[in-house]
Amino acid sequence: MSVFTIEGCHPLSGSVAIQGAKNSVLPILCATLLSPETCVIHNCPRLTDVEHTLDILRHLGCQVTWEGDTVTVGPSKLTCCSIPDTLMREMRSSVIFLGAMLARLGQAELSYPGGCELGPRPIDLHLSALQSLGAEVREAGGRLFCAGRLTGADIALSLPSVGCTENAMLSAVAAEGVTTITNAAREPEIVDLQNFLLTLGADVRGAGSSVITIRGGKTLHGGEYTVMADRIVACTYLSAVASAGGEGNLRGVDWRLLSTVTSVLTEAGCRVESTPDTISIIAPRRLRGVRPIRTAPYPGFPTDAQAVVMAALCKTDGATVFVENMFDSRYRHVDELKRMGADIRTDGRVAVVYGVPRLYGAKVRSTDLRGGAALAVAALGAEGESTLTGLGHIDRGYADLAGDLAALGAKIVRKEEK
Ligand code: EPU
Repeated sequence: MSVFTIEGCHPLSGSVAIQGAKNSVLPILCATLLSPETCVIHNCPRLTDVEHTLDILRHLGCQVTWEGDTVTVGPSKLTCCSIPDTLMREMRSSVIFLGAMLARLGQAELSYPGGCELGPRPIDLHLSALQSLGAEVREAGGRLFCAGRLTGADIALSLPSVGCTENAMLSAVAAEGVTTITNAAREPEIVDLQNFLLTLGADVRGAGSSVITIRGGKTLHGGEYTVMADRIVACTYLSAVASAGGEGNLRGVDWRLLSTVTSVLTEAGCRVESTPDTISIIAPRRLRGVRPIRTAPYPGFPTDAQAVVMAALCKTDGATVFVENMFDSRYRHVDELKRMGADIRTDGRVAVVYGVPRLYGAKVRSTDLRGGAALAVAALGAEGESTLTGLGHIDRGYADLAGDLAALGAKIVRKEEK
């Protein structure tokens, strides 16, 4: 079993390059299926979620290589149009294969996806978007069967779901005619997906706004693409510096995508400065509580940054209220933070963090991906040594959390324990 041991309360000082974005690379890898020609994807982070995605591509018949941070996918001959339950369960984003397989093969068979336990994560919107394009969807024995000739249509989403927008975009690329997705998710990762589709020769416009228009049915070619930097990983490292104190410099990330998080950290007493592709932060010894933080779809405060920012704000003067609006069960890290001495009360969607004078090192366990990273952030601000287990969650989204935090000056080591 792997564990992190973290020696807290040492101010940080260092610099780190931000890895490629998990939530971009996963849909982009699914989208490589759309053309029969080879795609070369750079800046792929070494994540277990990426490994699982490549396993699915291989299962479908693709030739896949992964050298350094470059993945090459050769999808010329697909040999299969179904994904077994064991591969589907590994992660939530496997559901994006639905749109990609329908687009390329006209059919797809798979089961419900897995992923972090954040409360119910239905896929009803995904299925109705595909039905709007003409796909027939049938469920039997826990498996979904989708097939049909796709035609462009108007898809009005009842909420701006990230995954549903991605599924609709991929299937619409193959649908004859024009598709308009309204109330689309506006996340930067949707823009990254659009940019990748454009390199393949697709006609997609509007990503980043709430209306996306796709002229489908074009013949696509292969392409080469570099995945954007991971804004949530960047938020994690800013929170780490805020928690431990000291200073840090993040390279290769666009500060404009993080402004809701940097403004919270500034309000808490940090100094944040940016150039076009770096962000630097200087954190005082002690932070103060901030105005309520409400998670919302982009450009609002990201739900994926809620846990790491909460961890940084445990040791403040004053209290901070969090309202989690995206998922029903995204406070599972709270009980672990309490083991370190945090004073947090939750009631449904609301969590109130009462600042405490100090946190103490403890043995804690990751409950989910971002919750696990949050425990590392809190441990950096805690007196003494912490041991963090459940690293499988963290490895899904952070290529080298311990190495990156060590580059920022943290005393953190990954060890194998029996
Ligand atoms: N929803 C429905 N029906 C649907 C789809 C979504 O009710 O058919 C609801 C969800 O239950 C949730 C809300 O809509 O309450 C938003 O979910 P969304 O579909 O936008 O999320 P997702 O596509 O499943 C992606 C990220 C998550 C991130 C959310 C929100 C990927 C692979 N995952 O999930 O990332 O939290 O958007 O921004 O892109 C993470 O990286 O740790 C992570 C969980």
